[in-house]
Amino acid sequence: MTMMLEIVKPDDWHVHFREGKLIKLLVRETSKLYNRTIVMPNLSTPITSITQIKKYKKEILNHSLNKKFEPLMTFYLTESLDVDELIKASKNNLVFAVKLYPSGATTNSAKGVKNFKNIYPILKKMSEENIPLLVHGEVNDKKIDIFDRERIFIENILFSIIKEFPDLKITLEHITTKFAVDFVERSKSNIKASITPHHLILNRTDMLEHKIKPHYYCLPILKKEDDRKALVEAATCGSQNFFLGTDSAPHNIDDKESECGCAGIFNTINSIQMITQIFDNENKLDNLENFLSKNGPIHYSLPENKEKIILNKSPRPLKFKNYLENDDHKIRIFSPPFPIYWDIKSEIIP
Ligand code: NCD
Ligand code: ZN
Repeated sequence: MTMMLEIVKPDDWHVHFREGKLIKLLVRETSKLYNRTIVMPNLSTPITSITQIKKYKKEILNHSLNKKFEPLMTFYLTESLDVDELIKASKNNLVFAVKLYPSGATTNSAKGVKNFKNIYPILKKMSEENIPLLVHGEVNDKKIDIFDRERIFIENILFSIIKEFPDLKITLEHITTKFAVDFVERSKSNIKASITPHHLILNRTDMLEHKIKPHYYCLPILKKEDDRKALVEAATCGSQNFFLGTDSAPHNIDDKESECGCAGIFNTINSIQMITQIFDNENKLDNLENFLSKNGPIHYSLPENKEKIILNKSPRPLKFKNYLENDDHKIRIFSPPFPIYWDIKSEIIP
C-alpha cells in the first residue's frame, strides 16, 4: 500500500480571492498550498482595466505566504471590453487570460455576455495573440432547465465559437457532466477542462435528499451520479485533457444559509488532501501528479513548478477546522463525506 508520494507542486487554475478583508484570509490559504493560481475577475466591479489588475494583484501579493506565489490575473469579458487595453495588458504580462461569464449565469456576472456575436472581434484578437479564454459554460435562459445548461451552452454557444476560432486556447471551466467530458475528449488539443474537488465528490442527490445542504450549492449545479462518475474517470485516467481548478468560491455563512443563498463552495484548505484521497480511493494515485501538477502547465504552455511536495498517508483520518473566520466573515470550509488520510508532509525546494 502506498503511504508516501512525491509529486511536483500543484497549481490551482481557478480561484476566487474576493475583495476587502477577505483577500488576506483567502490568499494566505491558497499560497500555502499552491505556487500559481488563476484569479477570477468577478468582483463587484468586474476587472476590465490595467489599473484594476495592477491594484488587485498588488493587494493579493501583499498577503502571500509563499515567495514563489504567482497570481495569474484575468480580465472579465464584457461586450464592450477595450481590445487595445487587453492587448497592451497581455504584451506587458499583466493579464494571463480572459474570463467569459454568460450574463446572469453566476455570482457577479450581470456585466457578462448577452450577445455572443458581439465578443467575436475580441475573440479574434485573443486567438491571434494566443490569450486563453476561460469559459463559464452555462447558458442563462429561463426556458432551459438548470441541469441542462452546460450541455446547451456547449451545443449552442461553444460549438460556434470553436468553429469560428479553431485555434483559440479555451478552458471549459468546472465541468460537471459526462457530456462535457466527452466533448473535451473529442476536441482538438487547444480545448481542455478544469474540474473541481466538489464536482468529483458530490452529486445533486447529496445536496437535495432528505434535507437541503446550502453549503453544497454551487454553479454549475451538481449533476447526476453518472456525471460525477464520468468526471472521476476523466480526472483519474491519466488523460492530459483535465486538470484541477478548485473554484474555491467563499460566501459568508449568512449568504449561504439564506432564503436566497449564494452559489459557491470554499474548499482551498483541504483541496490537495481530498483530491489525493479520491485518487487513492480509485486506485489511481499514479495519475495524481498529471491532474494536480502537469496537465495545467501543458495546457497553458507554462513550465512545471520546480518544487515538489511530499504527501503522507496517516493511519487516522485528518481533522480540518470547519470555518475560516475573521472579524467580519465566517466561511464554511467544504468537508467531504468520506475520511481524508492524505496530508502534505513537506515541500522540497530545489
Ligand atoms: C462562483 C462565485 O461565487 O464567484 N460561484 C460558484 O458557485 N462557482 C462563481 C463561479 O465560478 O461560477
Ligand atoms: Zn468560479
